[in-house]
Amino acid sequence: MNINWYPGHMKVTMEQLQSSLRLVDIVMEVIDARIPKSSRNPNLDDILQDKPRIVALNKSDLADPDENNRWRSHYESLGYGVLMMDALHNRGLGDLKSKSEEVLEAKRARDASRGILDTTIKMMIVGIPNVGKSTIINTISKRSGAKVGNLPGVTRTNQWIKTNKGIELLDTPGVLWPKFEDREVGINLAITGAITDRILDVEDLAFELIKKLQRIDPAILPNRYGISEEIEEPLQMMEEIAQRRGAILKRGEIDYFKIANVLLGEFRKGTLGRITLEEARDA
Ligand code: G4P
Repeated sequence: MNINWYPGHMKVTMEQLQSSLRLVDIVMEVIDARIPKSSRNPNLDDILQDKPRIVALNKSDLADPDENNRWRSHYESLGYGVLMMDALHNRGLGDLKSKSEEVLEAKRARDASRGILDTTIKMMIVGIPNVGKSTIINTISKRSGAKVGNLPGVTRTNQWIKTNKGIELLDTPGVLWPKFEDREVGINLAITGAITDRILDVEDLAFELIKKLQRIDPAILPNRYGISEEIEEPLQMMEEIAQRRGAILKRGEIDYFKIANVLLGEFRKGTLGRITLEEARDA
């Protein structure tokens, strides 16, 4: 597996993050609810330490509802405020202010005892690429379109977006590089589309996806593609699905590239159902 990892980059990113952090009261760490472990960068904990934090389980519309609840409990048990979000359809953002106030309660009380009564909340969003940071910023600020940027680090414009939620948001998110020294993590990130670098051929990636889906629920692929539940061998499953979908080359050979793209595309869009690749019990 071709691991794309830039320690130099990471150091600069972390330093930039650290200096931006001084400007905010609270951080919202956005993660992908389908891979709530793989979509986090563990280095963030070293930097944030006890900075008040909200963990946003975004893309919850694509993840299994029961697992969503289990992951919520898990992150709550670690002391974070947790928000279940579907930023694409503007769900879950309504609780942002109240959740932030909950997390900041102790700090607010300390401030009040020192005569500081500012109720505005300054917030910064951080996360690895593709978890939905731009979508969240655009939704909160009601601005449309523009991608906020995906280069690791923080673009130091330090503009503040005033929102109607009593929150001031740093206009650019902190982008963390995902950490995938572990093969499983790399595969999860590639399956969900978080990393565009081809760490595996698309055919191998689809093969890994089939294996994962079989472990999660052996009925997912038969239900979607009408193949027999008796088939257990992933390669055979892929071939059967290709037959059903007409992914066949001129001389009758299986078009593995095409069917692999169908499988990955349908997983990413949620067509295969709401699926979480990492169980909270393995957190
Ligand atoms: P980023 O800033 O963290 O890099 O992520 P961004 O907001 O650009 O979102 C990445 C993709 O995820 C976008 O799809 C976006 O629409 C989608 N997305 C964000 N939040 C949610 C959510 O809660 N639910 C669902 N279903 N999708 C969400 P895209 O524009 O099609 O980009 P791409 O997937 O082609 O890269």
